[in-house]
Amino acid sequence: MDTARGLPLEIARLDKHYADRSGTRRGPRQVLRGIDLEVEAGAFVTLIGPSGCGKSTILRLVAGLDADFSGAIRVGGVPIRGPDLSRGMLFQEHRLFPWLTVRQNVALGAFHSGLGAAALDAHVGGLLERVGLAHAADLFPSQLSGGMAQRASIARTLAGNPRLLLLDEPFSALDAFNRLALQLELERLWLRTGITMILVSHDIEEAVYLSDRIVVLEADPGRIRTVVENRLPRPRDRVSPVFNALKARLFEALHVETGAPPAGLADPAHTPEEAIR
Ligand SMILES: Nc1ncnc2c1ncn2[C@@H]1O[C@H](COP(=O)(O)OP(=O)(O)O)[C@@H](O)[C@H]1O
Ligand SMILES: [Mg+2]
Repeated sequence: MDTARGLPLEIARLDKHYADRSGTRRGPRQVLRGIDLEVEAGAFVTLIGPSGCGKSTILRLVAGLDADFSGAIRVGGVPIRGPDLSRGMLFQEHRLFPWLTVRQNVALGAFHSGLGAAALDAHVGGLLERVGLAHAADLFPSQLSGGMAQRASIARTLAGNPRLLLLDEPFSALDAFNRLALQLELERLWLRTGITMILVSHDIEEAVYLSDRIVVLEADPGRIRTVVENRLPRPRDRVSPVFNALKARLFEALHVETGAPPAGLADPAHTPEEAIR
């Protein structure tokens, strides 16, 4: 384990309204209602739910980017007061500064650290090594592939030594192979550091692969529909029957049609072996 240790997160009776800008309604619109969520230090929790159910809003509130809410949000037992590098955030887009190299972007993530030049260099070098970008340190963001840019963005966030990571669909703009690779790397990072992870995803397989607990949300107003515990041992086998059974449970919780016929109507003639012959 690294020196970083995960911080616990506690959300209690969280309500959130946004001012109505459509002109068709009166008063503010409620986007989150009664969110209660406890995440133990070092846990990996995924929030999943339809677009607009308030997933990003929850992360922004926990990050301290928006202080306008009612209820309680505590990180490490302390009510949040504005953004803090102990709570790192990753987005779908890499958000790197285009005029800085990878190394400079990552160094910026540690701007507060007070490290001298040599120590900062070593810190940044270690992070680039860790995300597999040592060879790309002097490239600019425009010279990176999508997967490399997201790796750089991860390194920049890690540079601040976060103890809670808020990940807002960080892999959803990547191609399938990069997504699988980064899921593995995120899992390794989590196992090694014990950083608490709160992932927002709309990818059911990603949620089952990575998380200890999957919080299923519904919209209008955003609220928790159900919580699915995931005790599958790691490393997880994406094609195992238990993995697929858990996926099926989530499809059901999300009310997603999988194409499966109603019980009793399955075609008994088709075994998997026959189907792929
Ligand atoms: N700054 C804002 N002002 C007004 N409404 C917003 C703002 N941000 C998000 N919303 C609305 O709040 C709801 C939840 O948004 P969001 O948290 O982005 O959902 P999700 O990430 O689950 O797709 C949506 O209906 C969205 O349109
Ligand atoms: Mg969102």
